Amino acid sequence: MYYLIYRPNTISEIDLEVVADKIEAILKGKSIPHAILLTGPKGIGKTSIARILAKAINCEKNSFANISTSVDPCNRCYNCLSIAQGSNLDVYEIDGASNRKIDEMRNLIDKVKFLPIRTHFKVYIIDEAHMLTKEAFNALLKTLEEPPKHTIFILATTEVDKMPTTIVSRCIHINFPRANNTSIVHMLKRILKGEKIKADEEILETIAKNSDNSFRDATKILEQAIIENKLSVAGIHDIIGFKLFDQDLLLLISKQNVKDLLSILENYDKNGGSFKPLIEYYLDRLHKLLLFKKGLDSDITTDYNLTISQIVKLIRLFSEAYRNLKYSPIESLPLELAIIDFFSEK
Ligand SMILES: Nc1ncnc2c1ncn2[C@@H]1O[C@H](COP(=O)(O)OP(=O)(O)O)[C@@H](O)[C@H]1O
Ligand SMILES: [Mg+2]
Ligand SMILES: [Zn+2]
Repeated sequence: MYYLIYRPNTISEIDLEVVADKIEAILKGKSIPHAILLTGPKGIGKTSIARILAKAINCEKNSFANISTSVDPCNRCYNCLSIAQGSNLDVYEIDGASNRKIDEMRNLIDKVKFLPIRTHFKVYIIDEAHMLTKEAFNALLKTLEEPPKHTIFILATTEVDKMPTTIVSRCIHINFPRANNTSIVHMLKRILKGEKIKADEEILETIAKNSDNSFRDATKILEQAIIENKLSVAGIHDIIGFKLFDQDLLLLISKQNVKDLLSILENYDKNGGSFKPLIEYYLDRLHKLLLFKKGLDSDITTDYNLTISQIVKLIRLFSEAYRNLKYSPIESLPLELAIIDFFSEK
């Protein structure tokens, strides 16, 4: 699985610059904070970064071991390797979702007072931290109030609003922004380089646009495209569910067949079709159609019986639908409204 093989292992592999800078600043600081809270959307690097931190501060070959000036983990010494494998006895990775009970939390916190066995710091990585019970949070809070010197807590969550403010206020808080397309394309290129595979920029852009701003989702789409031999723009559309659409929307629009249009969109939605790539595709078609109508070179050579002002209007309405997609609880709704709008305002 690419998303495991290409998990960032060093600061420079974190394709999210603002966060990478903050992590570097923490590691270069005089003392490591005893509680760090990582919050942000899924697939953005929270777990990866928690592990980079755990490895960095316990590495046997970097600045923390006084061996080099680098704060990065070497990823080769015993501590780095055992932390990566999850077998290091001083680094605990706890899934908040399955360790919710107070006894488990107490059990864990009871061990906090013991010195680490082989490392400088005992590290507790608590993933999905918002899932802990109130009692578990209270036990954690007591420890955070008087943290032993050799212990560091790294909490990660997608839902910071569900974290008690008493806990949040005791942590150094790093909030991850959503990944933009440039960062995602950059990450995809790193994978392609590792796999010695070439792909056009346009393909990578298409993956990025459809990855929900998640590095993990983008990685999965790329992997599927390679496995299924679909590393092309059409292939990517296929993978993300665009294939269900075999009607030409513009043709139906020019025929003013609103009923068919709406029922096709309903069907597309029911079959799990994705509207983001669909609208993108038609905006691209409309753009090309406009160029053709203006006498410029374009790969569209039929005029669909649409006037320039109709095309412009469609572009405006489809762009608006595209923007509204994000906030619409029903994915098909923005495009349906655009089509109804188009026919009602004549
Ligand atoms: N900031 C990032 N830079 C590069 N790749 C990333 C980044 N964040 C996530 N990834 C990719 O996504 C995968 C999952 O990331 P993970 O750290 O588990 O995310 P989270 O814990 O935020 O859900 C990683 O293994 C890696 O392939
Ligand atoms: Mg995670
Ligand atoms: Zn190391």
